[in-house]
Amino acid sequence: MAQTQEQTVSTGDTPFVPIEKIVSLCKRRGFVYPNSEIYGGVSGIYDFGPLGVELRNNIRRFWWWSMVQTNDNIVGIEGSIITHPRVWEASGHVENFVDRLVDCKNCKRRFRYDHLPEENVRQNKCPVCGGELTEPRKFNLMMETYIGMLEGERMKTYLRGEASQNIYLDYDNVLKSSRMAIPFGICQIGKAFRNEVTPGNFLFRQREFEQWDLQFFVHPSQMQQWFDYWKERRFEWYKSIINHKDRLRFRAHGPDELAHYAKQAFDIEYQTVLGWQEWEGIHWRQDWDLSRHSDYSGQDLSYTDPETKERYIPWIVETSGGVDRTFLNLLLDAYEEEPPSGKDKEGRTVLRLNPMLAPVKVAVLPLQKNKEELVTTAKELHHKLRRLMDSQYDDVANIGRRYRRQDEIGTPFCVTIDFTTLEDQTVTVRDRDSMSQIRLHMNEVPAYLLERVR
Ligand code: GAP
Repeated sequence: MAQTQEQTVSTGDTPFVPIEKIVSLCKRRGFVYPNSEIYGGVSGIYDFGPLGVELRNNIRRFWWWSMVQTNDNIVGIEGSIITHPRVWEASGHVENFVDRLVDCKNCKRRFRYDHLPEENVRQNKCPVCGGELTEPRKFNLMMETYIGMLEGERMKTYLRGEASQNIYLDYDNVLKSSRMAIPFGICQIGKAFRNEVTPGNFLFRQREFEQWDLQFFVHPSQMQQWFDYWKERRFEWYKSIINHKDRLRFRAHGPDELAHYAKQAFDIEYQTVLGWQEWEGIHWRQDWDLSRHSDYSGQDLSYTDPETKERYIPWIVETSGGVDRTFLNLLLDAYEEEPPSGKDKEGRTVLRLNPMLAPVKVAVLPLQKNKEELVTTAKELHHKLRRLMDSQYDDVANIGRRYRRQDEIGTPFCVTIDFTTLEDQTVTVRDRDSMSQIRLHMNEVPAYLLERVR
């Protein structure tokens, strides 16, 4: 679906959340801020606030754990953002990493040509005002930068346009230093930069963003098997962290939309108010990258099988997704506005985030702030819990408002210290989703929570 058309009604039972609600929540509660806001901001660039950075770290950590720490045949690297400029000639980005854009001659709006609805392309009409469109013009997305001080001695290079290139550059070093044998994979999480012609929809299309990549190196005869394997594994991974499982699907790329490096590609797509949109790409990169880097660098990057002694350029299955898109999709997936009900007379906004990913796992709340014993006991429990998980202490406003504040940021559990606590050391533990409460002895709380948030 073209990004210029907004769809507000879900096909399932819950309506799609408008992006504006997430933008507002993110700013209000410290998840995401516009970058350089005091200077008017920069389009397509954002900063992450105190809660945002916790959520991001939890998302990254879960990906790293699933991909690197729980697979014996996968290792991780962290490459640099700036590389030798020849890297981007070899990768094909200098020549091929282009978007075509058109402008409306009437309303002056700008569109990515490949995002226009088919009918508008056929009729050469603006999808907003119906005005005539200009001829498509090509723009390279690579961001340029310079290394060196003096004019004439400075070398032009690029901020990386995709994080994955470091993995091909380090492939031979990893192979020699970590005793890996094909089939094996290398993972990386890192920033990428693109001069997107139409950044927008909050974190969805930015100019500076973060990607996670697996590059899995295989014998050509095993390519199909590993491609199918990673396609399914990645799909299941995304499914495991969302509530609306019916909003996830695969979409195969048509021949005219394949990236220059891919022979075959599937997108894992998620459906939001923006329609079905790419979340992660599974790419059949074949021998494109290692062959090109061998040719351009003069270094032989072929592999010799230790047993058969066969020599070949490994083929590559790539799974490449976005940390920021995951962040946004998880918020869109989790956000719910509940009308007043029997349990909750005012109604509430709740983020039904997977507890493992939630930025705050538990809030410890004394029933009243002016009763010293309640405050001291609550602080003691909070100090004990914060060594084990993200815990927040809050004594501002009445208990109902405090629950609501925690619901809005997705805190799965609230522990309340009340007058009964002072008598028998028990506390109430409130569950975010059901709002039900149980009473536990304080000593049982850490184990009870750890079991549910890890
Ligand atoms: N190495 C392959 C590659 O870069 P891609 O489909 O261009 O493939 C992979 O990007 C993922 O990176 C996308 O699925 C998306 O999640 C994320 N991504 C790409 N461009 C983005 C942008 N401008 N803003 C935010 N995320 C982006």
